Amino acid sequence: MNRIIVLSVATVAILTFSGCDKGDKAAETTKQATTEVAAATKDAATKTVAAAKETATKATEAVKESAKKAVDATKEAANDVAQKAKETATKATEAVKETADKAKAAVAGTNDKGAQLFNKCKSCHGPDGKTKALGKSAVIAGQSADDLVKKLTEYKAGTRNVAGMGTLMKGQVGNMSDEDIKALANYISNLK
Ligand code: HEC
Repeated sequence: MNRIIVLSVATVAILTFSGCDKGDKAAETTKQATTEVAAATKDAATKTVAAAKETATKATEAVKESAKKAVDATKEAANDVAQKAKETATKATEAVKETADKAKAAVAGTNDKGAQLFNKCKSCHGPDGKTKALGKSAVIAGQSADDLVKKLTEYKAGTRNVAGMGTLMKGQVGNMSDEDIKALANYISNLK
């Protein structure tokens, strides 16, 4: 655009020079035209700078906005992850607790079963398992559960006979399941 203005001024100047012999006036006209062109150019430059400034400001704002959105999105995602991790941890804790409760209940059940089965042993071994049965057996209270399981299993199989009374003991435990023997051994080992 500026080029067009310059060309116009030059044309005006040339026309003025060629069409008139009053040189001074022509020079004056040229000077004025040049001043106007300079002013127009300055104006255009100012406008361009302002436009560039505005564009830059808008771009900055846009970048700021997207950065903010990105930060927000990241924050949200992080919160989601944290929330999920929390949920997983809670579930895991609950599962562990449930398993522990079940284990506890199982142990309690075994002890109950052992106590019930021990009722028929009390007449000879004593209510606390500390009596030497018929004056012949060892004290059974407090023996290790493993030892008791082994001994009772041997009586059941008819292969144990310490004081000549193995057959009597086979009659006591002969029809007990492995589970019964375990529960019983557990209970007796805990008698104090
Ligand atoms: C009628 C009496 C009598 C009853 C009832 C009885 N026992 Fe015995 N028990 C004995 C005698 C006697 C012996 C020794 C047996 C031998 O000669 O090996 C014995 C031995 C044992 C032993 C081995 C002890 C050791 O360390 O050598 C265990 C364990 C035992 N009895 C557990 C039981 C259990 C459990 C019951 C109940 C299910 C039971 N007994 C019921 C009389 C009895």
